[in-house]
Amino acid sequence: MAMQWTEHVLIGIDEIDIGIKEFFRRMNNLLVAMSRGRGRWETREMIGFLEDFASAHFSIEERYMAECGYPDCESHREEHEGFIKDLAYLRGEYEAGEVTTFFVLKVERWVYDWIIHHVGKTDKALYDFLRGGMRNREMRPDCTL
Ligand SMILES: [Fe+2]
Repeated sequence: MAMQWTEHVLIGIDEIDIGIKEFFRRMNNLLVAMSRGRGRWETREMIGFLEDFASAHFSIEERYMAECGYPDCESHREEHEGFIKDLAYLRGEYEAGEVTTFFVLKVERWVYDWIIHHVGKTDKALYDFLRGGMRNREMRPDCTL
């Protein structure tokens, strides 16, 4: 079962939208791979991808939050830090032992939770704020939108 992302998730800022599209594409690869019994391989790829994604995509979001005076910047950043910490823990588990079906399911569940709680709520609030700022141009002067 493929995970659907919809156009309304996209914000209209290319450097953010590219990350979102790639995130969902990779997530679907993981789900398809699991259904074909290749979840272990794809999980390894997914961890590597998420490490790159976290360092690139989070810093872009955090730059926009700082430049545009986003009021919930601190709590949003804390969720990013939590993700990076969890990911480092999963990387450690992966390096320390065999990639079991249980581990694959744990990674899948963790990414799902991230999509629902962070992408679906925290990121959505930020993107709504940025979209509003693009419309009314009442952002701080150094905001690059
Ligand atoms: Fe975020």
